[in-house]
Amino acid sequence: MVTPWTILLVTFLATLPESRSASPTILSESDTSVLTKVSVFETGKFHPITSHIGSRFTCSPPKPLLIVRPKEDGTYPVILFHHGTAFQNSWYTDVLKFISSHGYIVVAPQLYQLMPPSGQRELDLAAKVANWLPLCLQCVLPENIEGDLHNLALAGHSRGGFIAFALALGHADVSPDVNFSALIGVDPVAGISKQIQIQPKILNHESCSFDLPIPVAVIGSGLGNKPVLPFPPLACAPDGVSHTEFFNECKPPCSHFVPTDYGHMDFLDDDIGPIGSAARLLCKQSKWWASRDLLRRTAGGVIVAFLEAFFKGNYTDYNKILLNPYLAPATLDPVQNKSKGTSCSSLSAMTIPAFAFE
Ligand SMILES: *[C@@H]1O[C@H](CO)[C@@H](O)[C@H](O)[C@H]1NC(C)=O
Ligand SMILES: *[C@@H]1O[C@H](CO)[C@@H](O)[C@H](O)[C@H]1NC(C)=O
Ligand SMILES: *[C@@H]1O[C@H](CO)[C@@H](O)[C@H](O)[C@H]1NC(C)=O
Repeated sequence: MVTPWTILLVTFLATLPESRSASPTILSESDTSVLTKVSVFETGKFHPITSHIGSRFTCSPPKPLLIVRPKEDGTYPVILFHHGTAFQNSWYTDVLKFISSHGYIVVAPQLYQLMPPSGQRELDLAAKVANWLPLCLQCVLPENIEGDLHNLALAGHSRGGFIAFALALGHADVSPDVNFSALIGVDPVAGISKQIQIQPKILNHESCSFDLPIPVAVIGSGLGNKPVLPFPPLACAPDGVSHTEFFNECKPPCSHFVPTDYGHMDFLDDDIGPIGSAARLLCKQSKWWASRDLLRRTAGGVIVAFLEAFFKGNYTDYNKILLNPYLAPATLDPVQNKSKGTSCSSLSAMTIPAFAFE
């Protein structure tokens, strides 16, 4: 079954020209000294375990959770991951296990079933789940496994990417009891067009306008703004409210990675059941012979490299990918970096007519 929101999403789409005032560095310099593979694109050394935490648990969370964490004892950074419109958190299992295998605990709430609530209500539920973490995450984890909430990342796919940004920007009516240290949008979508945005509206269409003190990574999809059929011209991640605009509005440090040959739904598991498969048909997908696993490893690897850089101070893999995008399993073009110290006024003063991928 496809929800009314999904139908709305693809029915009333209007593709609009994007505002492009920022002109971040387009990285082309190639580091030829790199001969080795980038290890973040391979499965990590930890063994991920998934568990579903429902309301029957003693420390019952405000919403059911999928938790993916390493089997090995240790203290790990935590990623709060928000699902897309009417999606199940379990549809992201492959990419979340991949990330967890590099030593991360991923907490993926199921904020609602099928029919999305208002943007504000969804955001408030997300904030309640975030506030549940400090007192209760530990009580649903085994004794020798600890979530490090000083290294807490907010992430989300599609509408869940919007939720992650809106939460980081402080739009929830529930005041936060946690500090977020990094933000990741996986093909984030903030509405069906520049004019019809999910409330609370977060996009201003102004370069560097997100008032965020934390590093940001935006992963896009090259086919997200392409319609499935030539007519009607409806896309799942329409221009003006998608990754390019999120990247335009984030302040340095912020980076942008676009898997050229993949679509909005290709980040999900291969097997997502009949509802998921029906929803998949509404979005432009990669060619049938292309492996979604390559995309999941690319997106998962970029997320891990970004967090290793900003959580652990190890920029090796992050900079390797920024300088040598061809090392990723799936083609990434463009790859862009707004580095720290670049002033936004100088970014918007420069004018570059279009980004490389157009
Ligand atoms: C969040 O950060 C602020 C400023 O660094 C600090 O005062 C506050 O105690 C932190 N809150 C939590 C819950 O860690
Ligand atoms: C930083 O990451 C690289 C690549 O994963 C690794 O080879 C290196 O040992 C790490 N450096 C430190 C100091 O941990
Ligand atoms: C990208 O930006 C980050 C944040 O300022 C910086 O640390 C890093 O060196 C930059 N990397 C490249 C390859 O420009």
